[in-house]
Amino acid sequence: MALKTLALINILVVGCVVPMVQGQLLGLLGLLRIQGTLYCTANGNIGVNGTTTPVFPNALVQLQCGGNVVSTATTNRSGIFSILLDPLNFVLSTLLSGCKLVVNTPLASCNTNLPSIGSLQSTLQFIGNALFGLLNVGNIIPSGFQFNANLN
Ligand SMILES: *[C@@H]1O[C@H](CO)[C@@H](O)[C@H](O)[C@H]1NC(C)=O
Ligand SMILES: *[C@@H]1O[C@H](CO)[C@@H](O)[C@H](O)[C@H]1NC(C)=O
Repeated sequence: MALKTLALINILVVGCVVPMVQGQLLGLLGLLRIQGTLYCTANGNIGVNGTTTPVFPNALVQLQCGGNVVSTATTNRSGIFSILLDPLNFVLSTLLSGCKLVVNTPLASCNTNLPSIGSLQSTLQFIGNALFGLLNVGNIIPSGFQFNANLN
């Protein structure tokens, strides 16, 4: 009898605790991901020819916040870069309001007809969360690059 009661209490307790633990894990197993594609065009954005626009590989993409470089990534052969951030260290609203992407690798390195000085810059845009199993990823993309004649 006592054993049965204990078993019942166990079931009740486990039933309540598991959803709470899952909720906490979701909060802990979170990531912010800044991802985008850099194109080999005068402004770094996709051109009129869409997906046939040449990409900008091996470009160093800096995440700058308040003028400091806080993270970097290099574009791969597909022109794609990805910066992963721990949400415990970065607040989303601060990222969107106080940080930007800066590319100082000259555009001439992907096309000699493009400028050999200057930088590409973009602010950031949040596009939503996605769940990968228990991992909650907040997806951030560049709002759109612009060419700046100065290095930054
Ligand atoms: C777009 O594609 C056409 C046809 O291939 C080409 O002539 C043109 O130069 C391309 N434009 C740009 C901006 O790449
Ligand atoms: C570039 O990176 C993206 C995202 O990580 C990946 O999906 C893609 O396969 C990579 N391309 C190359 C050529 O490595």
